[in-house]
This record gives sequence, structure tokens and C-alpha cells, in this order.
Amino acid sequence: MKTLVVKQDEACMDLKAMEEAGRIIRDGGLVAFPTETVYGLGGDAFNPDSSRKIYAAKGRPSDNPLIIHIYREEDLERCVSVVPEAARKLAAAFWPGPLTMVLPKAKEVPKETTGGLETVAIRLPSHPVARTFIEAAGGFVAAPSANLSGKPSPTQACYVVEDMDGRIEMIMDGGDIPIGLESTIVDLTGEIPMILRPGYITKEMLEEVLGRVETDPTILDGTSTEAPKAPGMRYRHYAPKGDMVIVQGQREAVVAVINASLQEKKALGIRTGVLATKESMDEYQADVVKCIGSRQKEEEIAASLYRCLREMDDEGVEQIYSESFSSDGIGQAIMNRLLKAAGHKIINV
Ligand code: TXA
Ligand code: MG
Repeated sequence: MKTLVVKQDEACMDLKAMEEAGRIIRDGGLVAFPTETVYGLGGDAFNPDSSRKIYAAKGRPSDNPLIIHIYREEDLERCVSVVPEAARKLAAAFWPGPLTMVLPKAKEVPKETTGGLETVAIRLPSHPVARTFIEAAGGFVAAPSANLSGKPSPTQACYVVEDMDGRIEMIMDGGDIPIGLESTIVDLTGEIPMILRPGYITKEMLEEVLGRVETDPTILDGTSTEAPKAPGMRYRHYAPKGDMVIVQGQREAVVAVINASLQEKKALGIRTGVLATKESMDEYQADVVKCIGSRQKEEEIAASLYRCLREMDDEGVEQIYSESFSSDGIGQAIMNRLLKAAGHKIINV
């Protein structure tokens, strides 16, 4: 298949290409598009064949449900069987934006889209290109992140092209993505709202609107024997090709341990890399040192994490060491993705 790549500048959209993108979706094809969190791989949410194609294009297990993206709040009713008060409150506070809600699905939503579940995940993104596209596509776009299964989610169009060229009809290049981590997922089907995937909208922000909110206890703890409630959180994910280890502790100790490990690996002829913050990046003796951002600005770290992991692959790094972050606020989402990328390998020093 020939994949068409078109630029979509949010300030000045190519409306002809947008119309074409909408037509592709309505005809059962697939289009990758920018959102404020990561690039998405869209298909018609009400067309079971489109969902099957999404799984095939990503090489993703078909029991891992997709998120339905809408462009206006009233369309939530078409996708779900009940809209609880909590959903209304969250929509008012955080939509359009990086929040996904899990609710009981409406009958018409195909099982292919929900991975066989009776619940469905819904999100109303804020990115202008995403919203214009969803409207052009008929209003209901099922979309996972636009990466091959297991790879880091793409935050730049070049990585969408790398993973999806030849597999889908169109890629809309909207430039660099501002947030850089997937949306927060909150399950509203139980008695107490539960965070299934941490993201830019933090637990504290949700609690301000809803009162008590819990976090799926399995997602920050690699030793848990229970399966995470969001099926996608079970798979090895977000991962670079190289082996990765997180080192946690006081700054000097972390630098010393990482540098000692680097010497050992280098002696074996292994190509090494470090994911470091601006504050300590100059202290590492690795083949490749990537600055992930400043500890003073966690948003910056979130926005560059996946790009740094992809660049480690580009530069052929075989062994990666990463500094660790506090798990408050957005740090929780950063640590969640880092731990998954490292297969939960963490050294405390
Ligand atoms: O920011 C985002 O959410 C991006 C952009 C493109 O919108 N999308 C995204 O989709 O990250 P994906 O497919 O990579 O991740 C969706 C996650 C998976 O972990 C999946 O298991 C979970 O959402 N999920 C979807 N429907 C669910 C449901 N009904 N119950 C529990 N988890 C669900
Ligand atoms: Mg994904």
C-alpha cells in the first residue's frame, strides 16, 4: 500500500487533505493523526473491519481495546449506555484534553473496537488537527497510539512514518506533540473512580473534581502478580530495543553507580547510553547521553521521554541507564512509562 504523508499545520490546515482523510476513514481505511498526547492511528470506531485493520497494522493483540475519539461532548451518549454524574463533571473539567474515561459501552459499539469488553474508553482530544479530522471522519475515530506494538508511542511524525509507512492510507504530519505521554485513563464503571493509566491529568487534579479516586495498584509495581485492569498495560510496551535499567537514589550515588556500570559494559564492547536530566548530564561517561529535560520542569521530561528512547534505538545503543523521578503529579506517569520501558529493572543505591 502507498502511504500518503501530508503536512497539517494547526494554524493553517490543508482542508483538501483533511477531507480526503475523512473519506478514507468513512471508506474503512486508516489515517494517522496528531493529538496533544501522542500520534494516533485512526479508523471508523463503528466499523469492525476498521478495528481489525488497526490491530493488523500495529501488530497488536486484538484483545487490547481501542479508545474512541470524539470531537464534541454530546457524542459521548452514542458510545456509552449510561453517562454517570462523574463523567459529566470530568468532561466539564478536562475535555477537550488528555483524559480518557471508561464507561459501559452502547450496544452499537462493536466488540472488535473494545477488544471484547462490555466497557468502552472515550476521549475528546484538544489538538485542533485531531478535532477537525474526527469531525471530517464522521465523528467517531477508534485510535491507539500510532506505533508498532511494543515500541514507544510516536511524538514526532518521522517515527509514525518509520512504523506505519506502507501499512495505512495516510499520515498527517502535525509536527512535534506537546504533551508526549498518552492520556490519563480513568475507569468510572466501579463504585470509586480508578486510574488505569497515569498521565498529564494527575490523581490530585481528578480528586479535586471527584473527591476520592484510586489508582490501579498494579501499574506502578512490577512485582504485583495481579494483571492491570487496562489490558494494554499488561504488555511489554513503550520499550526501546536496548536493554534498560533505572538507577534510583541520591544524585552523587546514582552518577557513581551508572558510571561504574558503563565502564563494565564498555569493556565488553557494548554500546552504552544514559537518559539524564539537564542537571547531571555532563557527569556521565557513556557513548550516548540524552538530555531528557530539567528536573525543574517535569512537563519537559514527559514531552521528550519517547523521543529520547527512539533516538537511543536510532543510535544503536544496546545498554541504557536512566535516572529516576519522584512519583508525584506528572512524575507518576513518567515513572510508569520508564518502568515499563525498563521491564521494571530498577536499582536502588
Ligand atoms: O493519549 C492517548 O490515549 C492516545 C492518543 C492517540 O489518543 N491513545 C492511546 O491508545 O494511548 P492506546 O491504544 O495505545 O492505549 C489505550 C489503552 C490501552 O492500555 C487499553 O488497554 C486501554 O486504553 N483501554 C481501552 N479501552 C479500555 C477499556 N474498556 N477498559 C480498560 N482499558 C481500556
Ligand atoms: Mg499505545
